Amino acid sequence: MSAPSSKAELAPKAELAQKADFAKTADLPRHVAIIMDGNGRWARARHMPRAAGHVAGVSAVRGIVRAATDIGLQNLTLYAFSSENWKRPPTEVNHLMGLFRSYFRSDVDELIARNVRLRIIGNRSRAETDILEMIEDCERRTAANAGLNLTFAFDYGSQEEIAAAARALAEAARDGTLDPASITPQSFSAKLSTADLPDPDLIIRTSGERRLSNFLLWQSAYAELLFVDTLWPDFSPKQFLDALESYAQRERRFGAVSPEAVA
Ligand code: IPE
Ligand code: IPE
Ligand code: MG
Repeated sequence: MSAPSSKAELAPKAELAQKADFAKTADLPRHVAIIMDGNGRWARARHMPRAAGHVAGVSAVRGIVRAATDIGLQNLTLYAFSSENWKRPPTEVNHLMGLFRSYFRSDVDELIARNVRLRIIGNRSRAETDILEMIEDCERRTAANAGLNLTFAFDYGSQEEIAAAARALAEAARDGTLDPASITPQSFSAKLSTADLPDPDLIIRTSGERRLSNFLLWQSAYAELLFVDTLWPDFSPKQFLDALESYAQRERRFGAVSPEAVA
């Protein structure tokens, strides 16, 4: 092993390793979801085209997925493209679709090596057929992996998802196979695309915006929300571990009172 060239170079690595140890011992959230925002502003700040921000954003995805597998996180959901993002200029949409193509093609081997199971939630009818085929291929090839469940919200919109679940229940009631009186929050959740995932414990949004932008609206009922000012391409594994550390400090009550408060 070669010696580190300077103390300064060693310091951040050592700090990261220490943080990773913390994450292994602390109560890790079962499910972290991230609204990856700020690629455009990152590029503008560098006088670069928005496309360059999206390219840098893919590198950040790689860093966070590696960190998540390194610490043994169970579920990570990344908001990659919303159902409203189709409203962007066609050149930007085409560039983003090209990046999805290359990610699903070039990263699948590393995901397999890291025991990651990749899946997509969202509308599967509007993107180009070849992307949907690539996604299905990744899903098939990683289906047996038992490590991190990595879910990309791709052409995803929570309101559409909730409407589709309501429609499915209404159709079953109309056909006489479902008693409307039997519908509960649990049975409704089971109709959502996230049916086999626990609700997110922590939702992080980068770039300083403080909104959910149609992401996991039903599932976020009791999620801890963390808004960070960092633009997505700059969101580092260290900041990810900091986020988990700050989550571990929060007291989750789920409507109850903490035992110490009960006199
Ligand atoms: C997030 O970055 C990426 C996608 C929504 C696909 P943005 O492209 O929204 O970046 P800003 O918000 O314009 O900075
Ligand atoms: C949300 O970011 C969608 C993704 C991160 C994929 P946007 O940049 O599209 O959200 P708004 O338009 O600022 O609400
Ligand atoms: Mg944005």
